[in-house]
Amino acid sequence: MSSRTPYDELHYPGKFYPQAAPSRIATAATLFGVRAPPLATSRILELGCGEGGHLVPIAAAYPHSSCLGIDSAASAIERARDYAERAGVSHCEFRAEDVRSFPEDAGQFDYILVHGVYSWVPEAAQEAILSICARHLKPEGLAYLSYNAYPGGHVRQILRDLTVFHTKDIADPHEKVREARQVCEFIVGAMPPNTLERQLFGRLLGAYNDSDALIRYDLLAEENEPVYFLDFMEGARALGLQFVAESGFAARERPRLPEPVQRWLEAIPDRLVREQYLDFIGCSGFRQSILCRSNRPLEAHPSPATLAQVYLRSSLVPAAQDHLTDESEVKFRDAFGRELTCSEPVPKLLYAQLGAAFPAALPYRQVRERIEARQGFDGPLDALTEGKLVSLLLQSEDSGALEMYAQPPSFPLEIAAQPRVNAVARLQAERGEALTVRGASGLLAADSTLRTLMGLLDGSRDSVRLLRDWQRALGVSAAPHPDALERALRLLAGQGLLAD
Ligand SMILES: C[S@@+](CC[C@H](N)C(=O)[O-])C[C@H]1O[C@@H](n2cnc3c(N)ncnc32)[C@H](O)[C@@H]1O
Repeated sequence: MSSRTPYDELHYPGKFYPQAAPSRIATAATLFGVRAPPLATSRILELGCGEGGHLVPIAAAYPHSSCLGIDSAASAIERARDYAERAGVSHCEFRAEDVRSFPEDAGQFDYILVHGVYSWVPEAAQEAILSICARHLKPEGLAYLSYNAYPGGHVRQILRDLTVFHTKDIADPHEKVREARQVCEFIVGAMPPNTLERQLFGRLLGAYNDSDALIRYDLLAEENEPVYFLDFMEGARALGLQFVAESGFAARERPRLPEPVQRWLEAIPDRLVREQYLDFIGCSGFRQSILCRSNRPLEAHPSPATLAQVYLRSSLVPAAQDHLTDESEVKFRDAFGRELTCSEPVPKLLYAQLGAAFPAALPYRQVRERIEARQGFDGPLDALTEGKLVSLLLQSEDSGALEMYAQPPSFPLEIAAQPRVNAVARLQAERGEALTVRGASGLLAADSTLRTLMGLLDGSRDSVRLLRDWQRALGVSAAPHPDALERALRLLAGQGLLAD
């Protein structure tokens, strides 16, 4: 059992991070030519798991997996165990343990997740984290580590210096956080309007808006040492690990950079050096890197061949079915009411196909073949058109217009006569968190109307009672329209939030 740590002092709220989910890691790795271990039966380790906000939804998504979370803060581990128990998840073990004393005989894991820990621990713990990844990753396993990075870290460091300096004589942690927030707001507010520094620091400060814990454990953290990507990778490489991709691969693959800059980057032979320059160009302050063993072959970019291994999903549907193959503008709308207009045939045919199959995901191969058929291609798409399709898919993934899966989640789509939300979704809705969707691959931000309905979906009400009780709970004079109930239930079912 570990002794009391700074994280036992102030509650650090846990939540699910889609970018750190095995499903996301598997998709990114697959696109870069690295086969990912099967998610459904995987062995997953999370280091610095806090109160289980991330690991419990993952365990719930994969009932045949086996999950282990460790954290040195005993109070966080107690909350994690309680969360797992209330979510009905019994294959997720939590241990109050320091990464520096991780047992040698813990075995090997398919996925090792380390989110928001690496830069916030001393060097000895950083070394322990990397060597756990090296020793305990299965030969085909994937590790994910996020960390504060330079050069963007330099900007954050100014706020950190200010708050540490300003609060150095305050002992009470709550007062320290309060004062830190106030001094940041005061100093940023004192910067002349319309200046670069005001814009820069104002945006940075926005990240701390709702979270005292973030101020305490980021700005005021005892340890918070950003690292250059190349330096991080030097440590990983020395232990036999290599860089696969960033979890947010799509934004980095097709950065909105001028053509000459893209060509300049492409001419750099060393992929890691190219990544480092990209960090300078984007002033990156945070990285989410996926690693695997150094002996595995991989590709520098997603290609038609690696895309052939993934599934695509989108709820965008066209306003009309005609004009999909000519150059006219067609408006698309998704299940969340977001709109998009396209005129080129390839994106129109892509979204129309996916929208018709939604909520199911379609294999890329099938999508491409149907585009070929509709476009009247005699044989496969030419290289230029296929290259454009790859770019389109990456851009669409980056903008949220479509989702990609190496291993698409499966869940029941039928809506029971007396529907019930799954346990994790219910607990997340109660805690006011965004909801973990579809095999722990993303999040759904439910509004208060939907949350209110979710509170009633306990398997005891049919649609008549749901309409009546929903009206009462909302405190409105007229009952919601049955179509609204139907739409809400279909939304929840399509996101995998209803229980079997
Ligand atoms: C910033 S929090 C992140 C928690 C969680 N991963 C998240 O992102 O919500 C860092 C976590 O690392 C844990 N931690 C710090 N040093 C540790 C160590 N040496 N061994 C194990 N856990 C540690 C802390 O207790 C804390 O829960």
